[in-house]
Amino acid sequence: MKFSNTLIYWYLQNNRELPWRKTKNPYFIWLSEIMLQQTRVAQGLSYYLKFTSSFPTVFDLANADESNVLKMWQGLGYYSRARNLHYSAKIIANELNGEFPTTYKEIIKLKGIGDYTASAIASICFNEPTAVVDGNVYRVLSRYYGINTPINSTKGIKEFKILAQSLIDTEQPGTFNQAIMDFGALHCKPQNPLCDSCPLADSCVAFEKKLTKELPIKEKKIKIKKRFFNFMVVKTADNNTIIEERKGKGIWQGLYQFPLIESNKNLNKEDLIDTDNFKNLFPDETTISLFNSKEIVHKLSHQHLYTQFWIVETKKHKNATTPWHNIEDFPVPILIANFLQALDTKK
Ligand code: ADE
Repeated sequence: MKFSNTLIYWYLQNNRELPWRKTKNPYFIWLSEIMLQQTRVAQGLSYYLKFTSSFPTVFDLANADESNVLKMWQGLGYYSRARNLHYSAKIIANELNGEFPTTYKEIIKLKGIGDYTASAIASICFNEPTAVVDGNVYRVLSRYYGINTPINSTKGIKEFKILAQSLIDTEQPGTFNQAIMDFGALHCKPQNPLCDSCPLADSCVAFEKKLTKELPIKEKKIKIKKRFFNFMVVKTADNNTIIEERKGKGIWQGLYQFPLIESNKNLNKEDLIDTDNFKNLFPDETTISLFNSKEIVHKLSHQHLYTQFWIVETKKHKNATTPWHNIEDFPVPILIANFLQALDTKK
């Protein structure tokens, strides 16, 4: 395959001489791959050398004090990486007799190891054809194939993994994986890629269509707001309830809902009864029970609504003017329609 062969050929002439490239010992490859996440090679290198001279085997790392491990990590950031390394070293040393698992499926079970790291270790150390997809791989593939699916979308993550997997050289998967990463880091760079001297330029879609600067596409992630909704499903002795139009801007404008008490966290019964809103709404005696024992999470584009429906039985209520059997006449959000259906089937 032209793409893979060209990359491997390029790599054999241009690859970086790095200490972890001289070994297939999975312990060292694991350390290097964890260190290089969110860290550039130039920075990770000195940490790798320090770390491996202090902890030359997985047993040395397993037996170390966590504070020493963290000290050695100081300055690299994302300290959970160091804690997970230490945790998994103990599992390997104490439960696996010091033997590193040898397949992607087993490797990914270790704490702190995800798809990327498991693929890197399995391919580099054990020749398993599992494709790595890191930022470099996204960039090279999106440009070469002219793919504009956002690389941080669920669809994109799947699509690029499948593509990389279809391209991997099954004879030398570790070399292919490192070739495409190095090619992305050194040649097909984020800024000022070296298109003029690129061995893939004659078949690169982005080069042909002048899209190199635009690719890869990253979706702007919007911040999702969490809201906590408590709907008061009132039932009076004469079978009336309260349903009211939702006023103002925002979600569900013009639709109807049960009286809503919004809070800044999930409330239990005591918390709810204690709120001013509840006391104002129900000055008289009530019996209250939670309908859904597990909160319902209703996902909208910009907000997630953590919802509880409370059945509030009370003798009378001045606002309870809607007979229960008329409830179906009101246009309600799907969240409430689903609740009404669940209530109906429970009866
Ligand atoms: N970045 C992280 N790990 C790498 C590897 N093994 N080769 C090239 N770049 C990398």
